[in-house]
Amino acid sequence: MSIQTISKGPFEGQKPGTSGLRKKTRVFMEAGYLECFVQATFNAIGGAKDKTFVMGGDGRYFNREAIQTMLRMAAANGAKKVIVGQNGLVSTPAVSNLIRQRDTDGGFVLSASHNPGGIDADFGIKYNVCNGGPAPEHITQSMFEQTQSIHEYHTLDTPDVDLATLATLTLGDMQIEVVDPVQDYRDLMAGLFDFAKIKALFEGGFRMRFDAMHAVTGPYAKAILEGDLGAAAGTVINAHPSEDFGGGHPDPNPFWAKVLMDEMMSDEAPDFGAASDGDGDRNMIVGRGAYVTPSDSLAVLAANAHLAPGYKDGLAGVARSMPTSGASDKVAERLGIASYETPTGWKFFGNLLDAGKVTLCGEESAGTGSDHVREKDGLWAVLLWLNILAERKQSVAEIMSDHWATYGRNYYSRHDYEAVPTEAANALMNGVTVKLSDFAGREVAGTKIVMADEFSYHDPVDGSVSHNQGLRIVFDGGGRAVLRLSGTGTEGATLRIYLEQYASSTEPHDLTPEAALDKIRKAVIEITDMQTLIGRTEPDVKT
Ligand code: G1P
Ligand code: ZN
Repeated sequence: MSIQTISKGPFEGQKPGTSGLRKKTRVFMEAGYLECFVQATFNAIGGAKDKTFVMGGDGRYFNREAIQTMLRMAAANGAKKVIVGQNGLVSTPAVSNLIRQRDTDGGFVLSASHNPGGIDADFGIKYNVCNGGPAPEHITQSMFEQTQSIHEYHTLDTPDVDLATLATLTLGDMQIEVVDPVQDYRDLMAGLFDFAKIKALFEGGFRMRFDAMHAVTGPYAKAILEGDLGAAAGTVINAHPSEDFGGGHPDPNPFWAKVLMDEMMSDEAPDFGAASDGDGDRNMIVGRGAYVTPSDSLAVLAANAHLAPGYKDGLAGVARSMPTSGASDKVAERLGIASYETPTGWKFFGNLLDAGKVTLCGEESAGTGSDHVREKDGLWAVLLWLNILAERKQSVAEIMSDHWATYGRNYYSRHDYEAVPTEAANALMNGVTVKLSDFAGREVAGTKIVMADEFSYHDPVDGSVSHNQGLRIVFDGGGRAVLRLSGTGTEGATLRIYLEQYASSTEPHDLTPEAALDKIRKAVIEITDMQTLIGRTEPDVKT
């Protein structure tokens, strides 16, 4: 074993958030950088001695080298065993599943999610604990503290191990099990969904397109959709994980999955389209001529989950992040189950899932999941949709109009203002915050504000309170605007403005979201004084 000494230089000690540590790839490649983070993690969890971990990544540039470094370090730190995906690949939800199925102590995910890959793009690493979910605050805090004082890491002077072949190997005194990253996940899905029924749907001529975006879900989607479920060969496109995701952003939204969107809006559109992100936890759902917003998708899944065997007894409750539209609340209300509004970020769902308070949860940013793992899960959402389509024998568009006719429609859009100078963004948020208490009753751009506040979350499981989770402004007639600053942006600040307008079951549901949200959008421009403060009123990205 060798102990490498490092000066405190290489590690800037950024506090890892709930999505782990994200940096430019070249930063991770600096001597000792990755090593410091991994050693800090081992130190923070009381050492690696005799522990078992899962390791896998989304296949982006540096994945292969990083896994080898981490295996050597795990062995040098006394770990008993590492379960690693073949060629170093495992999707985020499948890592979560392996941690749980194999009763391990935790696991490492190598990914920067939906961000681009390559030597000049992004890399990331995240540690998940034994429930399969992201490390909680007290562990990330301890990791951060470790990084501030770390001066050495433990490793071995050994050659790379062969991760291409399924086998059990040894490295020092540690065992390495190279596993098929798909198998356990596939078994889990087969237990939740009626594969025979979905197979019959495909046999009946149902056509689908799944865009794996050159990322990790390719092998999963091929095996399950084309293999187990008999979807036509070629259903899964961009199925081979590549180090730079084919030069694109593996971000499943209408902008980055434009080729899929164009096909779905064309005359030759198949019945159903879907996409997943770099590490496989996000999803996009689109029917023929019908894009489904993530907020609506969560609501439809909640209303219909009982049609799938894994959820046949109904749901304990549904949780959504605060900026996600209230569509799922309407479903929960009618089902007579609990609904929860949590701050942005998956970690807040973990407690609710562990405590059995909710079965489904989701975010407007294309993350949907359930208690089957402790991460959001892209392919799972796609399979639940397929199971529902197989049972209801209706098109996506028909399911959506039925849904709105039953529960009403929550028109929704998110506007992102990127690379805003940090000071200007803070000035805008502070400006609104100090005025919040005067808003109620005020008329802005022809619409009346009924209530405004800064969102705080009281965790019903552990009693913790999270303040400062975004600003909510509720308008007369079912409108709502939410303002918050992104926690994952990389350049300056990203201001996110979430617009929502509810139309009850008897009101028209065929407006464009732009038209339905126009009043709220104008009110936000006026309230924030954004023209003066950030010099623009048009966002960079609308989703
Ligand atoms: C974004 C999304 C949020 C998600 C997070 C991690 O965070 O908005 O829903 O949980 O990425 O995937 P944000 O940049 O808004 O802080
Ligand atoms: Zn992701």
